[in-house]
Amino acid sequence: MIDANAGAGFKILAREDFSNVTYSLVIHHPLMARAARPGQFVIVMSHESGERIPLTIADFDRANGTVTLVVQAVGKSTKEMQQLCQVGTTLYGLVGPMGVPSPITGKKKVVCVGGGLGVAPIFPQARGFKENGAYVIGILGFRTKNLIFWAEKFKASCDELILCTDDGSAGMKGFVSDGIKLAIAGHSDIDEVIAIGPPIMMKACAEATRPHAIKTIVSLNPIMVDGTGMCGGCRVKIGDQVKFACVDGPDFDGHKVDFNDLMMRLKRYAEEEKAALDRWSKHCRMTNLGPSALNGDGVDPAVDMPDPFEETLGG
Ligand SMILES: Cc1cc2nc3c(=O)[nH]c(=O)nc-3n(C[C@H](O)[C@H](O)[C@H](O)COP(=O)(O)OP(=O)(O)OC[C@H]3O[C@@H](n4cnc5c(N)ncnc54)[C@H](O)[C@@H]3O)c2cc1C
Ligand code: FES
Repeated sequence: MIDANAGAGFKILAREDFSNVTYSLVIHHPLMARAARPGQFVIVMSHESGERIPLTIADFDRANGTVTLVVQAVGKSTKEMQQLCQVGTTLYGLVGPMGVPSPITGKKKVVCVGGGLGVAPIFPQARGFKENGAYVIGILGFRTKNLIFWAEKFKASCDELILCTDDGSAGMKGFVSDGIKLAIAGHSDIDEVIAIGPPIMMKACAEATRPHAIKTIVSLNPIMVDGTGMCGGCRVKIGDQVKFACVDGPDFDGHKVDFNDLMMRLKRYAEEEKAALDRWSKHCRMTNLGPSALNGDGVDPAVDMPDPFEETLGG
């Protein structure tokens, strides 16, 4: 087994498990905490031979010198991290902050929308807008009550909070796009909507605001490799232009994004991803680190692969 403690690395000071697939890690990195801006992300390597994966900076605390990541275990690397990244261990590599920071000044009224795992990355924006004097309406969407996290944290940074669940077990029954319609009905002066979540959800949010011509920003999550604009892996279609999400984004105008192309590209390596997960799960079983030790629900992760961000159906 790989020792997550090996090397200097970046120490994990705290961890919280929100569900059997979603967990947060608070990492000691004073320089990163000082440099981070809302909307930016890091590239993480959990161990020396680990894959480089992009994760959004879900929170940063300059006084304590920490950054917080919220991760959904969807495949080999994120499930491996779920197992290895315990309090007191270290991350081998943490590069960033990357991406163009989200503009959070000069707005009077904004709506910050997070769906499922997207709730975490929208938090720094909501807080940033509030600190800059905007009236902030938060809309959080989850599939069901048990998956809700950070609602209290949002209450402190939002003037209004609309909680939506797909099954109606908490807040209003419906999708975040229904929450947006409610917010628009109550406020005719919204400057901007910012939405983060699964592509299908962001697409629905953009469609909800389009008839009202409200500027809508979405944060795209294409597959990234280097994160520095060199490989072209994160190419996205925005109107008639091709952009690289890692250096030109990840925020883009939701009314111009080609979501169908994004969704198609996200599925491109599904076979390889499944093969990597199968190999890793087999290795876990052979070393008595059964997948159930990771999920706690007895579900074989090689079979059960949710989409990243999938904690709400979106739409
Ligand atoms: C800018 C950005 C910010 C992100 N922020 C977060 C976050 O805060 N928390 C979080 O849990 N996830 C986040 N993601 C997605 C996360 O990077 C992937 O879920 C992760 O790389 C999957 O790796 P895996 O080996 O566990 O799964 P894999 O088996 O490799 O893939 C499972 C799924 O993840 C997608 N994926 C695979 N590799 C990447 C990649 N390098 N970049 C994007 N998607 C990928 C695939 O389409 C596939 O559907 C973000 C992605 C981007 C681009
Ligand atoms: S990740 Fe390589 S160009 Fe963006």
